[in-house]
Amino acid sequence: MSTAEQALAVNSAHEGQESEHQIDQEFLIEVTDGLSSSQKTLPCKYFYDEKGSQLFEAICETPEYYVTRTECSIYERYASEMAALIGEKALLLEPGAGSVKKIGMILEKLTNPVGFVPMDISQEILQYSSDVLSQQFPEMSIDPIVIDFLNKEQIHQIFSTLPVRPLVNKRVIFFPGSTIGNFNPDDAIVFLKQFAENLYSGDGLLIGVDLVKDTAILEAAYDDKKGITAQFNKNLLDRIDRELNATLSTGSFSHRAVFNQDKSRIEMHLVSDIEQTVCLDGNKVSFKQSETIHTENSYKYTIDSFSLLAKKAGFQLEKVWKDDNDLFSVHYFSVI
Ligand code: AVI
Repeated sequence: MSTAEQALAVNSAHEGQESEHQIDQEFLIEVTDGLSSSQKTLPCKYFYDEKGSQLFEAICETPEYYVTRTECSIYERYASEMAALIGEKALLLEPGAGSVKKIGMILEKLTNPVGFVPMDISQEILQYSSDVLSQQFPEMSIDPIVIDFLNKEQIHQIFSTLPVRPLVNKRVIFFPGSTIGNFNPDDAIVFLKQFAENLYSGDGLLIGVDLVKDTAILEAAYDDKKGITAQFNKNLLDRIDRELNATLSTGSFSHRAVFNQDKSRIEMHLVSDIEQTVCLDGNKVSFKQSETIHTENSYKYTIDSFSLLAKKAGFQLEKVWKDDNDLFSVHYFSVI
């Protein structure tokens, strides 16, 4: 029996016993699998429950996390150039719950945009961003779509229903925030390729990418002095305790962020401060002292390394904008 099957068996054996909430089986399987591998891991997508999302917003405000404010400063300075390159009658599409502020800065500068299509798995988030943008741009057509943008068939189906020329000149994917850095490079290629395959030659991709820089700046950005990133990392343990009947006490784990030069990525870990055995929905998971759970990778690129990655996905670099300190970049690619 695989570990995942064991988790399911243990969980179904518990059915009928008092349980205050329904356990999310997929979450349980992924956590059980991650904690049974030799390097323990947890999927970073589970950071973003309500508390985790609030903590992420607080991270963006810390003095050390330059990412968000630097990217916004690039749009403030160059959105007109970006809009000129995109051209008139464009349809913008944003996969994932992006920041209303960032897309707003681009939409503001576009000439006769055909519309904006925010795409997310959460209806609630889509509703919120669509409402805010509709107020800001009352004339614009904003058509939110509930979609799992990791699902190839869904992407294909949605894209086949989008308006085409002469109504729309270009369809442009907007993917800010360096979210692409949370994919490993092979998965990033697969992810971008599924969009390239559903766009036409000449359509575009406007994407925010965090750059390789001094290790001290990077490590501070992921380990701020106020400890907000540490709370964000540890909230994953709280969430597992709450939702999966576990006993991963946050008090016995520490936050660690290190830049792995060879892989060009920030790694976030939770380090077990003591030797301990915890419970996960009836199963036991043991930790040696100092053993870590690897919770997140955030890949950092150079302009060239990212352009090469995007080329493998079917995109050709048209233009790139950076801040004066070379911290962050925004790339505009067109579909080859
Ligand atoms: C969402 N993502 C781009 C953030 C990053 O920088 O990789 C997530 C994050 N993790 C810790 N701090 C911020």
